[in-house]
Amino acid sequence: MDAMTFVLFGATGDLAKRKIFPAIYNLYVDRKLPESFQLIGLGRRKLTEAEFREQVAQSLRAFSRRPVTDEAAVRDFLERIGYSELNVNELSDYAKLAGRIEEREQRFTLPENRVFYMSVAPELFGSIVANLQESGLSRVSGWKRLVIEKPFGHDLESARALNASLAQAFEEKEIFRIDHYLGKPMVQNLEVFEYSNPVLQALWRNRYVANVQITAAETVGVESRAGYYDHSGAVRDMFQNHMLQMLMMLAMQLPKHSTAEEVGFKKRKVMEALRTLNREDVAANVVRGQYTAGHIGGKPVAGYAEEPGVNPGSTTDTYIAARLWIDDYFWSEVPFYIRTGKRMAAKSTRIVIEFKDPSDKFSRTNETTAPNLLTIDIGPEAGMTFRLNMKNPLKNGKIEPVQIQFDADEKNVPEAYETLIADMMRGDSTFFAHWDEVELAWQWVQPILNAFEGGELPLHTYSAGSNGPEAADRLLEQDGFHWWHDE
Ligand code: BG6
Repeated sequence: MDAMTFVLFGATGDLAKRKIFPAIYNLYVDRKLPESFQLIGLGRRKLTEAEFREQVAQSLRAFSRRPVTDEAAVRDFLERIGYSELNVNELSDYAKLAGRIEEREQRFTLPENRVFYMSVAPELFGSIVANLQESGLSRVSGWKRLVIEKPFGHDLESARALNASLAQAFEEKEIFRIDHYLGKPMVQNLEVFEYSNPVLQALWRNRYVANVQITAAETVGVESRAGYYDHSGAVRDMFQNHMLQMLMMLAMQLPKHSTAEEVGFKKRKVMEALRTLNREDVAANVVRGQYTAGHIGGKPVAGYAEEPGVNPGSTTDTYIAARLWIDDYFWSEVPFYIRTGKRMAAKSTRIVIEFKDPSDKFSRTNETTAPNLLTIDIGPEAGMTFRLNMKNPLKNGKIEPVQIQFDADEKNVPEAYETLIADMMRGDSTFFAHWDEVELAWQWVQPILNAFEGGELPLHTYSAGSNGPEAADRLLEQDGFHWWHDE
């Protein structure tokens, strides 16, 4: 792997502490970092290098997947990490930073390969990129990469404006947009799964599939993020990005090669085939909800409107369910139901593919059989279950579902951030969100945002600890289906 300098904006923030440093440390332990790797953390706080390294060490102890027991290894890792105080709006701070990076690159005759990782609020992306450009930091003789975290905009218009500001200094192939769901092993598996199993390949189409359900349910509430969340809601926080990315990965036609270009092209095709939801269709196909007080794990919890920092009378959605149609040769007439919510009964991200029931045509008895289900568990535990039917000899030959199951060995599975950061360092953007997809996703979601903002949809409530508003059940009942909760 190429030698590089990794510049981390927001190095004292929560994401850096919980995800980025532990991920990079695990890559170091797994020998996936280049020999001469160096990271410069940037933050507003005045900290000595020793103080900053101590913070990093604490974050490793608290959040690393690999045990942090080898003190010598930790020390060696920390020696690669420096800190600079930087005010993101102060051009002279960038000049100092440039001096520091250039000095080191010359001293060790390192190529000018630079990663700029923005672990900061998206409002700052534009001015940081402008200052990188102005200070010359982003003019390199090697390569440069910009890593940004969602949200990529607040709506279609602001997403386009944000992208235009990034494009002033970085080409599309230099921009790595992290959607951490794309780093989850089972999401990455979706394509391989179909590719490597002719049996599934044959079934992956409207002839056999009755409906597809994609759920991301969380038990946590808004936590301490009301300032951000109350302006975003589930539709922006989860739906526009993670949920639609999972849909694309599942529904895309197999690319010939698993490369960024080909996967990106196939994903775009899914978004282009996604039936546009006009503003007047939103109410019939989308359910929005907000949690009220209830119980999680037996403990009482407050309703969303009572959470600290939430605007009184807030109509922000903490739950959204939608019915989508992909009008292409393989998926036309198959409803895709997507839902995500906070404060639900269980933490579970899963895809359920319900197969059509042919027994009505070839019925031999009056016995009805349960549908075959393929359940792909994305998290928190990764796994897969295939539910088939068999005759039970203990029950007079009654036909009953049996399950074929696979559970991943979680401890040894790299975290999403490890996989994505390693890919980015290699310059592979296959599992990153590309601008085309992001733009098409905003375009699809925009009528929903408009309908929400125009108060055109009822705000359903659901008690914390439930499976969401009842209205979401009716969305499926209309088509003769129901949600598969915990099969
Ligand atoms: C983040 C959202 O992108 O994903 C959070 O901003 C959410 O609100 C989180 O809790 C869920 O991620 P995971 O990996 O725990 O399913």
